[in-house]
Amino acid sequence: MNCAFFVSGRGSNFSAILEKKKSGELNINIELVVSSSQNAGANEIARDENIDVFVVNNENQSEILPLLLSKKIDLIILAGFIKKIPDEIIIAFRDKIINIHPSLLPAFGGKGMFGENVHKAVIERGVKISGLTIHIVDEEYDNGKILFQKAVEVLPNDTPQTLAKRILTQEHDSLWRVIKEFSKKYE
Ligand code: GAR
Repeated sequence: MNCAFFVSGRGSNFSAILEKKKSGELNINIELVVSSSQNAGANEIARDENIDVFVVNNENQSEILPLLLSKKIDLIILAGFIKKIPDEIIIAFRDKIINIHPSLLPAFGGKGMFGENVHKAVIERGVKISGLTIHIVDEEYDNGKILFQKAVEVLPNDTPQTLAKRILTQEHDSLWRVIKEFSKKYE
């Protein structure tokens, strides 16, 4: 199964996938990383593994779809990608794009809800259980069919940072499992 990862930041989820691939628990080809930032940590991680990195901006956005098609991508994984996916990609890869989100959707999702913003909103609201969601990506933010969720307790003294860290650990142990399910179709 040929995969493309879309990233924007440090890339810890992407790293966790690389580890699972190296350990042999996950049998996938990582053909491409699409990054929304020149400086994303994930770019370096990918280059160290000789994976092609395409840094997307407003001018070259239309080049992504041909690139995905030329690399025969089967599954796109949004691992901390903060930009909206162009509709033409969603249409061409219907049900073949997944996203990981650090809350129990449909709560605390939507535009602007990424990374620490999510955990800050959760704590401010007094929510007692948060977690993570892995879902299919459709034309609306954080809206597609839910494939996997895991609950994580919000502790009384949590800050957005401590909560983020606890959820991130669970993200690292979750995303590869969902990708593995998809990969079974290609074995
Ligand atoms: C992760 O917590 C991921 O769930 C979140 O961004 C972080 C990326 O971390 N994604 C969203 O908020 C999407 N709305 P990483 O770059 O270390 O994988």
